[in-house]
Amino acid sequence: MELEIRFGEAIATAEGDALVVPMFEDGSWGGGGEWVAERMPGLAGYLEKAGFTGGAGQVETVPGGDAVPFAAVTVVGLGEEVDAESLRRAAGAAARACSRFATAVTTLHLLEIDEAAEMVVFGFMAGLYTFETFKSEAKPAAIEALVLAGDGGGGEPAVARGRALAHGVALTRNLVNTPAVAKPPAVLVAHVEDIAAAHGMSVEIYDEDEIVAAGFGGLAAVGAGAANPPRMVVLDYAPEGAVKSLALVGKGIVFDSGGLSIKPASGMEDMKTDMAGAATVLGAVQAIAELGLSINVKAILPFTENVISGHSMRPGDVFTARNGKTVEVLNTDAEGRLILADGLSLAAEGEPDLIVDVATLTGAAKVALGVEIAAVFGTDEARRLVVDAAEAAGEDVWPMPLHASYRSHIDSTVADIKNTGERWGGAITAALFLREFAGDGPWAHIDIAGPARSTKAADYTPKGASGFGVRTLVAVAEGLTAS
Ligand code: BES
Ligand code: MN
Ligand code: ZN
Repeated sequence: MELEIRFGEAIATAEGDALVVPMFEDGSWGGGGEWVAERMPGLAGYLEKAGFTGGAGQVETVPGGDAVPFAAVTVVGLGEEVDAESLRRAAGAAARACSRFATAVTTLHLLEIDEAAEMVVFGFMAGLYTFETFKSEAKPAAIEALVLAGDGGGGEPAVARGRALAHGVALTRNLVNTPAVAKPPAVLVAHVEDIAAAHGMSVEIYDEDEIVAAGFGGLAAVGAGAANPPRMVVLDYAPEGAVKSLALVGKGIVFDSGGLSIKPASGMEDMKTDMAGAATVLGAVQAIAELGLSINVKAILPFTENVISGHSMRPGDVFTARNGKTVEVLNTDAEGRLILADGLSLAAEGEPDLIVDVATLTGAAKVALGVEIAAVFGTDEARRLVVDAAEAAGEDVWPMPLHASYRSHIDSTVADIKNTGERWGGAITAALFLREFAGDGPWAHIDIAGPARSTKAADYTPKGASGFGVRTLVAVAEGLTAS
């Protein structure tokens, strides 16, 4: 159910069940917390006894008693100082703590952060996210409304932005959390068509025969073994008067068994999340449309399973990608780059101002940067633009080198290029492979193999699909619009 958000009521007259206020690590109150402290003189002493120090991520809920007109008061810690991202996280932690109340009232948006209401609304909505589609008894949270008490934080426009980003992230999480059995390419196509219809976007679909006819040899090769046939999806957001153009390419592997170069059993169940790149692009495009950004965005989404049958591609096979380059497949588990090769080729044909691809591409990126940080590669200007956008959006990424001499690792003896190099530097050789298909214009590649999924629930991120990357892509679109 959609969370109702009200804005502008004063704290003294706002009606609700739980009041959420922030506290800093030094014990000082921020964002209107003094109002509570004055009326509940015993609160600070209680918090201290309960071990609540105001540290980032801490939450404590106490009864409001007769002192304030709220059944409960939830105090959320901010640490030593607050920035946009720690505010999102505090809001997410608070949301989870008070989701059992129907209406939450907060003053978090009064903290001294530009557009603070955006972070509060985003963190709150993203923190309340649950995935219950496959539970026979769904337990929806009780919470129905969030009241931002007191003027400030950027007002309605900031609220709308936080809401649009949270909607995009929820869309991404839903698709990624869905088991592979329930999201064959044709089903994902239907989802994309629904999103397109809801936002007046056009969509073009290539079925398995059209994929071959269009020369998408990588997608055809990876999809060859699957009983559920592959689809290439091109979604177009083209608002009137837009000048700049952005192409977003997302890895849409519905399930990655590894193919004939099969993966070990442990961890294979996570490979339903191997379409997170495509889901991230979809979530971002939906948010961009909801925000009405003035930019042309083309989302290119190759969808297929990477599974085994007598029709599967074999190690040693060679195919021709959309841009005419021949590719030798040494390891069928390096399949993401094969479908992205076609997606990037198609993107480059349109000569957009910028191409960005997003993919759960390599375990090596996860080894290099861990599960909280995405790896960013690309042409210098594009890579910088993405890194800056991620920083502005509050998502952790790090720039990585397209080290020239490693290009020889993917020289093939029989074709123009092969799909795997040596073990070391695997995230880099994967990116060098993609570069061969991205054309001559600005291009960046974001490897989200680590942060696409979370192994534990924390602040606004639940266990499972994280929705990481949606905010960065929206910020990329905004950055391009402004330039
Ligand atoms: N989807 C995987 C990468 C991955 C691994 C994402 C773990 C998230 C968590 C990708 O298709 C893959 O299998 N990559 C191989 C490439 C190798 C065969 C060159 C890898 O990283 O091991
Ligand atoms: Mn793989
Ligand atoms: Zn994969």
